[in-house]
This record gives sequence, structure tokens and C-alpha cells, in this order.
Amino acid sequence: MKVLVIGNGGREHALVWKIYQSERVEKIYVAPGNDGMLELAERVDLALDDIKGLANWAERNQIDLTVVGPEKPLVEGIVDEFTLRGLKIFGPDKKAARIEGSKVFAKEILRKYHIPTAEYEVFTEPAEALNYLEDASYPLVIKAEGLAGGKGVVIATSLKQARAAVARIMEERLFGDAGNRIVIEDFLEGEEVSILVITDGESILPLAPAQDHKAIFDGDEGPNTGGMGAYSPIPIISKDVLQEIAQKILYPAIKAFRAEGIKYKGILYVGLIMTSLGPKVLDFNARFGDPESQVILPRLKNDLVDLMEMVVEDRLPEIELEWDERSAVCVVLASAGYPIDYKTGYRIKGLAGLAKYDNVLLFHAGTKQKGNNYLTDGGRVLGITVLGDGLLDAINQVYSYIDEIDFEDMHYRTDIGYRLIRGY
Ligand code: GLY
Repeated sequence: MKVLVIGNGGREHALVWKIYQSERVEKIYVAPGNDGMLELAERVDLALDDIKGLANWAERNQIDLTVVGPEKPLVEGIVDEFTLRGLKIFGPDKKAARIEGSKVFAKEILRKYHIPTAEYEVFTEPAEALNYLEDASYPLVIKAEGLAGGKGVVIATSLKQARAAVARIMEERLFGDAGNRIVIEDFLEGEEVSILVITDGESILPLAPAQDHKAIFDGDEGPNTGGMGAYSPIPIISKDVLQEIAQKILYPAIKAFRAEGIKYKGILYVGLIMTSLGPKVLDFNARFGDPESQVILPRLKNDLVDLMEMVVEDRLPEIELEWDERSAVCVVLASAGYPIDYKTGYRIKGLAGLAKYDNVLLFHAGTKQKGNNYLTDGGRVLGITVLGDGLLDAINQVYSYIDEIDFEDMHYRTDIGYRLIRGY
């Protein structure tokens, strides 16, 4: 069969890598992809949000299954367009993807169906939000309602920071219309975990839990990014804890969506915090996480294409997924200055030497090929994933392999997995 993957980052490279392993797949296309994927897939020169263009192309090329990586085309209705034309596509439709497209919508569902989450208020007027901040206790969390590339959430530790966040989102309109409304919610203390489930709107199959490191600098300092590293499994999320999360959050969420007339199909990514009062939802995403997918997919033994097809065809069984027992750690190599301002076009040295290690995977995000070399071409440049015998081994190995890679302005966190090392 012929599969089209939509997107151009490390997540999509991991998806392409996993899909390539399916014996049923003859050919993979990726739109727009990046040069690092060329060994596995052919690039299609269409933008990831050119929904009509992508559907026309998929029709012309008789694509059997389309897999959507990023949130933007999902929120804009790519699944509806493909489905209307009888094309098979994996992901939630526009109505369902609102759980990521509108943080207000997601919070309303959580509140209405008593799914554990932080208390919150919604504001449309900056003056009212500023007024509310005067008597609030800190820290608190301020979120732009719409899509902001992972940068629309601020944890304000003081009134001054909270005022600045409201001004940036609502008055300076840093994220445009995504900041028309904001959610101000209580700050919750605990370990953050990413629980992704594959679902056809009835059955759910939880994927192995992962933990992401969103801040740009070591010790979780500095602005949030799309994600600077991840690992899986997470020792604190035992089978019993995952069962508790499924009972308190995952099944109730899918049921709540159904009650709202949403048949949620695809990946439901639940950002959770493990508080002293149990797991609570921080946010929902309508897609695979990045870099979480770079540690989850290398551990998944099942055929991903089979699972995706079962979702599209509403026949996902409640089976136990099979996992590689090894631990996976991914460290993102970025361009210095990311997520704000950075330079590109630098030669990446040392990649070819890593090909000889079976347990090392390189997922390209922002790279461009020039002759026999790769150049940096984005903020997040590469994810390097290592499978090891336990997390400590994987962490030690990943940093020793990173020593073999070099490019000008290379920045990465040196403490991926530090919560695990210090014992949470
Ligand atoms: N790693 C965070 C996200 O994918 O949204």
C-alpha cells in the first residue's frame, strides 16, 4: 500500500521510520517532509496546511492511507476533506480536533464531565483578566486559547509576570487570534507525563507513557519550546497507575466526547500532572507528541499501519500493545537562540559515524541536504534517540553519542531524564 505522511519534523520522521517497517507498505510519501527522510520516503512539495492540494494529490496518486502529524491541518479540517472524498486518513476530524484548537472548549468538557483538572476562569477582555490577577494567588497559569506552537502557556510566579503575559497575549496579540480569549488556571504541583492513546472513539489503546522536557535550558529554566527531549517508559507510571489514569481520565474523556457528539478517532494526547490528589489533565492534544513520538514509536512492536487502519475503519480491538523492554531516551539538538531567534545553514558533522550503532536513531527535524552533507535548517535540528538497558544506560549512551555530533551554535539540554536520576 501507499502511505502519505503529512508534516516535516522529528515526529514525522519517527512516523515514517515506523511505517516503513510495515510489510504491507510499498511506498511512503511525505508532504512536505525534510531531506533527512529521503532514504525512507519521497517528498511531495505541498505545504502541510494546503488541505485541498493534499487531497487532490492523494486522489491522483491513489494513496491508501494518509497520516497527519501536526495539529494545524487537523484543526483546519483535513480529515473532513479527505473523508468526504472517500480517502482514508488517520486523525481526528475538525470537530474533534477542537480539543487542541480551543483550550476553552477542552476545559469546558473537563469541567462539565467532572474529569480532574485545575480550576480556571476564561477571559475575553484584557481589563477583566488584569482585574482578576490583582487578588489571585501565585504561581498561576495563563494560556492563550488557540494554537501557539507550544509557546502560548505561561506559568506566572508573580503579579508582574502575569500582567506581562496577559498584555503579550491579548494586547500585543503575539499569537494573533489564538489570544482572543485566555484561560487563567490554578498552578498544579507534580510530575508532568504525556499519555497518548490510540482510539477509534470507542476502544482505547494507551501507548507507553513518556515524559517531555519543554523548557529550553537545563533544570527546566527559560522559555518553553516544542520539547527538548523525552524518555519512555516512566517508572512512576506503573501498570496500576496507568490503569487508574484510564479509569479516571481516559475512558471518561472518550465518553464525554461522545456525549458531545464527537467520535474521536486518532491519537489523543493527554498532558497530565500527577498531583498528591491523583492525576489531573493539563491539556489535550489531537496528535502524536514531539519529541514523545521519538521515544514511543521505537519501542512499539505492533504494526502501526495495521493499528491506524483499524481506527479509520472503526474496528480497533482492545488488545495489549507490545513493547520493546528497553528504555528509550531522545535528546533534541537545537540551534542556539531557539525558540526565539536563531541562525541556520551550518554543516552538521558526525552523523554518518552513528549509522553503525543499531540502538541509535536519528530523527531529522530542521535539516537540509547539500551534496553529501546536512546543514541546519530550523530551530529543532535533530532528535537523537537511544535504546538502552534501562533509562540510566540509555541516558549515558545518548550523551556519549552526542559527543560525536557537532555543528556551529549547537544547543541541547544536558539533563534529559534528570527527574528520574534525582528520584522525582
Ligand atoms: N512535546 C509536546 C507536544 O508535542 O505538544
